[in-house]
Amino acid sequence: MEALLCTKLGDPTVAISDSSPIVVSRSHPVPAIASPTSVRVRIAATSLNYANYLQILGRYQEKLPLPFVPGSDYSGVVESVGSAVSTVKIGDKVCSLATSDSFCEFIVTDEKELRFLVPDGCDLVAAGALPVAYGTSHLALVHRAQLKPGQVLLVLGAAGGVGLSAVQIGKVCGAIVIAVARGDEKVRFLQSLGVDYVVDLSKGNIIESVKNFLKTRNLKGVDVLYDPVGGKLTKESMKLLNWGANILIIGFASGEIPVIPANIALVKNWTVHGLYWGSYKLHNPQLLRDSLMELLSWLSNGTISIHISHSYSLQEVHTLSTHSSTFLQANLAFGDIKDRKVIGKVMVIPGSSSVGRSKL
Ligand SMILES: NC(=O)c1ccc[n+]([C@@H]2O[C@H](COP(=O)([O-])OP(=O)(O)OC[C@H]3O[C@@H](n4cnc5c(N)ncnc54)[C@H](OP(=O)(O)O)[C@@H]3O)[C@@H](O)[C@H]2O)c1
Repeated sequence: MEALLCTKLGDPTVAISDSSPIVVSRSHPVPAIASPTSVRVRIAATSLNYANYLQILGRYQEKLPLPFVPGSDYSGVVESVGSAVSTVKIGDKVCSLATSDSFCEFIVTDEKELRFLVPDGCDLVAAGALPVAYGTSHLALVHRAQLKPGQVLLVLGAAGGVGLSAVQIGKVCGAIVIAVARGDEKVRFLQSLGVDYVVDLSKGNIIESVKNFLKTRNLKGVDVLYDPVGGKLTKESMKLLNWGANILIIGFASGEIPVIPANIALVKNWTVHGLYWGSYKLHNPQLLRDSLMELLSWLSNGTISIHISHSYSLQEVHTLSTHSSTFLQANLAFGDIKDRKVIGKVMVIPGSSSVGRSKL
């Protein structure tokens, strides 16, 4: 089968060469049904998360032994089942989370990992984009911060994968949502979702911009900060927080881990939540399952929708107008993340030859 292999650590955006850390194998073995409760899924779509990029760079908290097939959330159709499997059957549409081995055509997992049947009417590619991004924001906003109608939610990196999901879930919760992003295209997109206010970082300072908006609505400050970016933006956002605010530490896309002074947290009665979604699988799997089931029902009834800005196959691209080199489509997919081009999600569709912007 076709599979993307990471053979060494390095920058996955570089063109095909001896130094490239990723290669596509056309003859990777199809994984075998390993136990009576194993299920093999033909992958329809797998999502590319920032964590996959960090993992190939060697900068992610969880390290995999080389070589490895990267993995993330995915969707697909059950293709084969072990003799004792009772909860899914061949032909079922499913989505799930993998920590490796989903950037290929087939994945084998245990049936207990596949409790997420994709409801009728749900787009299968969209379902593959849902678990990590929407799961993270749902647990963060609904379970940890307990976001209430009328509260002010400030979302950093709001056009990215987790950011856009936080914006949508914030609106579902009835919050007043302020989104922070860079550039006209992202700002226009966020406005089209009915976000209450969008800060364009390419045009000015977050503090002044948000304060002006809050004044027009007679609001004092921000109740919940959703932060997948870190660095200077976190420091500035702290100046906008209300007494009793919740700070959700989601990630550090800026590459800089922010400092939240304990003395200010004390005086202002802030609650700082570190949130690592994947670890709920180990520590509170029931909550994670309930959360994903609710999200899938929201996806099927149109409460949320998933924006896929780019989708790629595992083929090669022979010419790019701006380069003389040959790239894998996967190089371009990682490049979209690195260059901050993504609005919503980037997907990899194994076995297809599509490239570029999705019409979804
Ligand atoms: N805690 C968890 O369980 C969990 C789960 C999923 C993701 N995460 C983390 O959340 C972060 C974002 O993930 P994602 O999948 O949403 O990534 P993404 O789609 O690439 O979005 C990241 C956003 O951050 C903003 N950004 C600001 N400074 C940046 C910089 N120097 N480089 C790149 N982006 C920058 C960009 O917005 P502008 O260009 O508009 O400024 C971009 O839209 C990552 O650190 C990821 O590891 C954590």
